[in-house]
Amino acid sequence: MPNSILVTENELKKQEKIMKEIAELNKNKNLFYHIETYGCQMNVHDSEKLAGMLEKMGYKYTENIEEADVLLFNTCAVREHAEIRVMGRVSQLKELKTKNPNLIIGLSGCMMQQKTMVEAIREKYPFVDIIFGTHNIYKFPQLLWEAINSQTTIVDILEDTKNVIENLPIKRDNNLKAWVNIIYGCNNFCTYCIVPYTRGREKSRKPQDIIDEVKELAQKGYKEITLLGQNVNSYGNDLDEDITFAKLLYKLNDIEGIERIRFMTSHPKDISDELIYAMRDLDKVCEHLHLPVQSGSNKILQRMNRKYTREHYLEIIDKARANIPDIAITTDIIVGFPGETEEDFNETLDLAEKVRFDAAYTFIYSKRVGTIAANMPDQVDEKIKHERLEKLIELQNKISIEKSAKLKGKTVEVLVESISKRDKNKLTSRTRTNKVVHFVGDEDLIGKLANVKITDTKAWTMQGELVEVIR
Ligand code: 5AD
Ligand code: SF4
Repeated sequence: MPNSILVTENELKKQEKIMKEIAELNKNKNLFYHIETYGCQMNVHDSEKLAGMLEKMGYKYTENIEEADVLLFNTCAVREHAEIRVMGRVSQLKELKTKNPNLIIGLSGCMMQQKTMVEAIREKYPFVDIIFGTHNIYKFPQLLWEAINSQTTIVDILEDTKNVIENLPIKRDNNLKAWVNIIYGCNNFCTYCIVPYTRGREKSRKPQDIIDEVKELAQKGYKEITLLGQNVNSYGNDLDEDITFAKLLYKLNDIEGIERIRFMTSHPKDISDELIYAMRDLDKVCEHLHLPVQSGSNKILQRMNRKYTREHYLEIIDKARANIPDIAITTDIIVGFPGETEEDFNETLDLAEKVRFDAAYTFIYSKRVGTIAANMPDQVDEKIKHERLEKLIELQNKISIEKSAKLKGKTVEVLVESISKRDKNKLTSRTRTNKVVHFVGDEDLIGKLANVKITDTKAWTMQGELVEVIR
């Protein structure tokens, strides 16, 4: 067994050396990078790490892909739609490469963890310079170096890894709110989902590494952290230490300077009483639970390998609401999973009405090669899938609007995030329940907690008036 820490340290030293060499090479050259990110927050945060490395190597960010010397596409494989979009984008890049022969094009992320995809790209788009996956983004400097010095496509994909890589440079998109990985990978194998194949088995970061990162963020002035994992509730299961996700929350709640702690995503089968009590008792942990239900039909939940029933799900919601008044609950729902009948779909509608989610991310089932559901009989007709999606969205919109409307006239605590993009006289802020509130206020309030009175509401965004600045 290789010593994973040693492997990590040696590898990182090597990468740091290469970063210095490339930085030296790039000195005074005024080179630019652009990253296009697809998919989930995990990918968004991976892109922040790639950006961190690129900046260390002397590249500057550009919005304009025509200007880029390094162009990365950090891809998503969760649904076919995202894959088609990426392929379409890549097919257009040949022209850029003709204009700037030194341009380095790299593809990374979940799509690249699929062998057939890599083969297809190499065949169709030989002008792509680097292809790498989710387990070795730390190796990007070396791959870039090799690509600069070679004419062929550099491909480096690891099937899985036991290593957790710490201390990569990170260029964060925001200076108030930060993503913090706590666990990588997924062991659940929901039958529709490609993630366990592209992100590998669960690997928790050590609590001390997470605490150190959050302390550093607090020192830099960050106010809010969002803990990331495909299933944050299994945090610690793979560690020798006496730690659970709830215990981690207690430790992070003590860090001075951080005002708000959020997390995503939770799996209903792993929600513990300990977690609900932690959410109830810890002042910084926000009253928002993103709890994907996927379907309201027990038959479909079983075929999805979700390991809970609708009854169990409803019990968790009751318990959460009994302990955490005004908690916002959001969810993910898939329609048109193989074998989903009208009756099954009606159970999903019924569950949505019973729970009354604050918001739901709704998806049409997308067949993913390599997953169990892809080979299931009774795949649902596309037209029916679309009709069901529309019905579900209509119901959820109605509920979201009604739920938000209840806040009208109430005073809520917000964290002020930025100047509003739509109206420069207004500020954009967020409630603890993650809803957006716009209100008239001075730019100085950015980064502050304030109380605002809600004056008007839509499904997810609201208008308000400043009552008082808290701190
Ligand atoms: N088809 C449709 N939606 C999917 N999701 C995951 N895999 C698929 C798929 N094959 C959805 C789930 C998950 C969210 C991130 O994406 O609802 O919670
Ligand atoms: Fe995919 Fe299920 Fe894991 Fe979520 S819990 S990443 S849906 S396999």
